[in-house]
Amino acid sequence: MKGDVVLTAQNLTRHYSIDRGTFRSPAILKALDGASFTLIKGKTLAVVGESGCGKSTLARLVTMIERPTSGSLVIGGVDVVTADKQTLQGLHKTVQIVFQDPYGSLNPRQKIGHALEEPLLVNTSMSKAERRSAAEKIINLVGLRPEHYDRYPHMFSGGQRQRIAVARALMLNPSIVVLDEPVSALDVSIQAQILNLIATLQEQFDLAYLFISHDLSVVRHIADEVMVMYLGKPVEVGSRDTIFERPHHPYTRALLSATPVADPFRVKERIVLRGELPSPIAPPSGCAFHPRCPSMTDICREKFPETRDIDGCRVACFHPKTYE
Ligand SMILES: Nc1ncnc2c1ncn2[C@@H]1O[C@H](COP(=O)(O)OP(=O)(O)O)[C@@H](O)[C@H]1O
Ligand SMILES: [Mg+2]
Repeated sequence: MKGDVVLTAQNLTRHYSIDRGTFRSPAILKALDGASFTLIKGKTLAVVGESGCGKSTLARLVTMIERPTSGSLVIGGVDVVTADKQTLQGLHKTVQIVFQDPYGSLNPRQKIGHALEEPLLVNTSMSKAERRSAAEKIINLVGLRPEHYDRYPHMFSGGQRQRIAVARALMLNPSIVVLDEPVSALDVSIQAQILNLIATLQEQFDLAYLFISHDLSVVRHIADEVMVMYLGKPVEVGSRDTIFERPHHPYTRALLSATPVADPFRVKERIVLRGELPSPIAPPSGCAFHPRCPSMTDICREKFPETRDIDGCRVACFHPKTYE
């Protein structure tokens, strides 16, 4: 992706120590194991992969809820790993997050208007009247009505609550918004409305999005670039069109073969993944995908495939599919 870089991650890694009882040393779970990417003003990087591949861990690092075990993370020119507390506090405002279930983050006894004003109360010196007017403005922007200001979370539908979560994320004028499965809990008919809203707001405010989903068909409508992850590692990163039209990694192709396509006349490749997703505590040797991979050979068991550039994509595979 070209444009103004607002975030650069290099080899971003997060390991967790898992206690295995008194007589055994703790195991290391590599939730995220070497992700490199950039976020660009006004553009969307989508992160896809099966449940447990490290997407939410990545979201927690980018939003600075957790610190990386290793690797570098630079946001708005500031190195997050070495920044002092005061600098970090300023950075926190520029990166906001929307979760799958906003119900959990909304106080059931707080009116929506007040929930929206809260970040302003905590972080700015705006007057009561200024805060109220900012909340009213955003309520309108996300497609809610003025009377919703005085209502409580339980009075809204799932789609409306997700509009509120998006509104709340925008109160402090962030430059980066992380959306962690923002439409996964919604009916398909509502999903499209929320995706449209998210896209409109991106254009309006020139936001950089890190859009997380386990579902490639959702990503197709919103991504500029796609990063496919498997067991904590990116296996293929490329432009949306290349990932959907000319996927190289067998895992990307398998995910796509399980995704409904818009064009029913297109002959679809059928790749059925063998076996279960392995545990990230004891990932398979070499390429972690090898036990499930239809293209697997001896080398895949023995060595980890270094990332290489193919057709504008970064692909970590010994046997990528290539196109004419
Ligand atoms: N705080 C934690 N302590 C230990 N393991 C964790 C923790 N958070 C996540 N994990 C593990 O890290 C892996 C990646 O989790 P997560 O980032 O939530 O994946 P995803 O969002 O893609 O489903 C999973 O195996 C999960 O069990
Ligand atoms: Mg998750």
